[in-house]
Amino acid sequence: MLTGAGISAESGLATFRASDGLWEDHRIEDVATPEAFARDPGLVHDFYNARRARLGEVEPDAAHRALARLDVEWPGELLVVTQNVDDLHERAGSRRLLHMHGELRGGWCTACNNRFRWDGPMDSFARCPKCALPGLIRPDIVWFGEMPYEMEAIDAALMACDLFVAIGTSGAVYPAAGFVQTAAYRGAATLEINLEPSQGRIFFDEHRFGLAGVEVPKWVDELLTDAA
Ligand code: OAD
Repeated sequence: MLTGAGISAESGLATFRASDGLWEDHRIEDVATPEAFARDPGLVHDFYNARRARLGEVEPDAAHRALARLDVEWPGELLVVTQNVDDLHERAGSRRLLHMHGELRGGWCTACNNRFRWDGPMDSFARCPKCALPGLIRPDIVWFGEMPYEMEAIDAALMACDLFVAIGTSGAVYPAAGFVQTAAYRGAATLEINLEPSQGRIFFDEHRFGLAGVEVPKWVDELLTDAA
């Protein structure tokens, strides 16, 4: 299963590509590339500090909770791969979860390669909790031009899955946008749950259009009833 910003929209977190989304107010090349961080780390820190602070004001929604219920009750294998850097899946209770684009509540030391939890604001003088060198830590976020995390585990899951579901993602950003084709090529059934048809809509066998908070609990109910 692949989730995107749409699954956290009803919690109150802005998506990226909506008309009031994050990429309307900020240019990707100003805040979400390694070059942007090298040029103006303060601007990049401000962007992620604001988003990290916002996490403290929101709660998981019905869609996160339904996927957490699936995690507990689904008897077979399950993997939720999220492009989201919020922590709403785990706060809802999902455990079989990978953050392919990193985590807002994480830092990464570019000097000693340590990854660590980071809850408050980060700035250009912050020290790595392990090597204590100042000024060399950054948000643990995968920026444009960088390799997403866990690609080996994700590829293995795509090769082996019987069902691939994408929830709340526009299908605009690779490699995640290509997962549906890999899964379909290997014989998996494919389902898209989204407010509107995504850019990858032609690759899905089935679509359910509507709010994730309505459609995901309904789908999980059906799946668990069929499995019982
Ligand atoms: P987008 O903002 O591109 O797409 C969000 C999708 O969710 C859209 O197709 C919306 O129609 C849909 N949506 C919005 N509200 C919804 C709701 N309540 N229920 C269901 N669907 C809803 O976000 P992503 O696809 O997650 O990467 O974006 C992918 C990546 O692009 C992000 O991880 C981020 C961004 O640039 C990086 O920063 C590396």
